[in-house]
Amino acid sequence: MTNPKTDMRDDIKEVVVSEQEIKAENKRLAAKISSHYDDGEEVIMVGILRGAVIFMADLAREIDSPVIFDFMDVSSYGKDAYTSGNVRIIKDLEENIEGKHVLIVEDIIDTGLTMKRVVNLLQTRDPASIKIVTLLDKPERRVQKKVQVDYNGFEVPDEFVVGYGLDYAEKYRNLPFIGALKEHLYS
Ligand code: IMP
Ligand code: MG
Repeated sequence: MTNPKTDMRDDIKEVVVSEQEIKAENKRLAAKISSHYDDGEEVIMVGILRGAVIFMADLAREIDSPVIFDFMDVSSYGKDAYTSGNVRIIKDLEENIEGKHVLIVEDIIDTGLTMKRVVNLLQTRDPASIKIVTLLDKPERRVQKKVQVDYNGFEVPDEFVVGYGLDYAEKYRNLPFIGALKEHLYS
């Protein structure tokens, strides 16, 4: 069987956030984040797999504080494009976060259900602080209103977006920009 050759960019309706805009926003977010911790204070960055990997890698290099990397894998049941609400922890942290500053790094906050689940769990472990940074935010679709986002990149409209870590069915993560996926591909 041959592997079909496709051009990922043909599936993109339009660029929502360009590579240059992401770069500039990462610098802005990192400056804000760095200023909120004391000099030399260690921060445990908790990336939510797999979408946050690229954002976290770029953001971390703009932050002045010493950081430790850890990851959680969280999944909602079902294969749909959107969160079902039934959020499951697939992979927990390796680090003990008790008394530590935690910065949760997310690619996009949509309904907020994933983030609420993660925050609730980490809070039980008595960290010194928990802050949330997300590159993208879809406030129109928020179900869980109690999620307090500390650092917010771009608000995006209620469309399915991919690239810069975000996927549809595990595809498009390596596009260097954020693009809206053509609707017929996911609906
Ligand atoms: P929430 O629980 O609804 O806030 O969903 C958050 C998760 O859903 C994110 O971490 C993404 O993995 C996924 N997600 C939500 N919207 C999009 C999108 O437009 N593109 C890609 N993934 C998305
Ligand atoms: Mg995700």
